[in-house]
Amino acid sequence: MNQQVLLEVKHLKKYFQLGKQETLKAVDDVSFQIFKGETFGIVGESGCGKSTAGRTIIGLYDRTEGEVIFDGKNVHTLKEKEKYAFYRQMQMIFQDPYASLNPRSTVMEIISEPMEVHGLYRKKQEKVQRVYELLEDVGLNRDHANRYPHEFSGGQRQRIGIARALALDPKFIIADEPISALDVSVQAQVVNLLKRLQKEKGLTFLFIAHDLSMVKQISDRIGVMYLGNLVELTTSSQLYKRPLHPYTQALLSANPIPDPDVEDSRERIILKGELPSPINPPSGCVFRTRCPHAMEVCGQKKPIWQEEDAHHFVACHLYNKEIMAGKDYSQTAASK
Ligand SMILES: Nc1ncnc2c1ncn2[C@@H]1O[C@H](COP(=O)(O)OP(=O)(O)OP(=O)(O)O)[C@@H](O)[C@H]1O
Ligand SMILES: [Mg+2]
Repeated sequence: MNQQVLLEVKHLKKYFQLGKQETLKAVDDVSFQIFKGETFGIVGESGCGKSTAGRTIIGLYDRTEGEVIFDGKNVHTLKEKEKYAFYRQMQMIFQDPYASLNPRSTVMEIISEPMEVHGLYRKKQEKVQRVYELLEDVGLNRDHANRYPHEFSGGQRQRIGIARALALDPKFIIADEPISALDVSVQAQVVNLLKRLQKEKGLTFLFIAHDLSMVKQISDRIGVMYLGNLVELTTSSQLYKRPLHPYTQALLSANPIPDPDVEDSRERIILKGELPSPINPPSGCVFRTRCPHAMEVCGQKKPIWQEEDAHHFVACHLYNKEIMAGKDYSQTAASK
């Protein structure tokens, strides 16, 4: 793959300090790249750090450690005057289309607000025209402009949120579970809308979800997160064909397959135990307390991020040849 990198996340950490004693490791050393024009999915169960990663990437949160490089610029060290240009290029769509729109503003005001903040379309007629265009882009129409959010269904509200995110003509959009709050029948429509907009406008997406089947439909590549860590990353087709990490295997086994013959013969992997707390994560591999293949070494040493197949990355000792060959690892790497 010789695509152009648009966003690079390098060893990103976001810790929340809870009182004097406790630190919550919401994102703990995550690295990946997003190529121009692709949709990169992040999947993982509730609380694994997906939203925190998204918010830190867009600069809503400062980072604890690491770097986020967007189009060659470090997001967390932008100068004041660079920030405006940056925020035009990167936008976010939120999970809850009810909470994310101001109930006291009309659709016209909601969608044109970012334009005003950025001093675009100063002539009223131009601004109104632009809002009409955006409404049409997302499958609504100009008659909707003077209404209020409560007059719309969940799917329509999400379309308004998408129009607002597009108002500044961004290059990159972080969609944080944009369809989880919607009825199943509406989810596919919003996914199709995002796909169409991506093609028409050449957008790059970071698409966050907890449901693997939905991420697969929209993503070119997928990163799987568990307790603040990335555990696997590859193309969506490869992830389904050959999931490597025991956590990914468990996630996939929980996804029904439409073919009843395949479905009946499948082994369902039920993960034991509870999701540990990110305040006190397990030593070594964070997944080991629930892993069906956990070995002694898993409690002692954090797995390295390795490219097991071409463009297929995994962090799991099962794929570490030295460890699996029984070599004494304690001499060569410090355990965490
Ligand atoms: N502002 C905050 N202050 C303290 N802790 C936080 C804050 N935001 C998130 N957390 C904690 O960080 C961890 C990751 O939360 P995050 O919201 O990123 O998870 P998520 O993967 O998006 O989950 P969900 O699928 O439920 O949206 C959780 O343990 C959460 O309680
Ligand atoms: Mg979230």
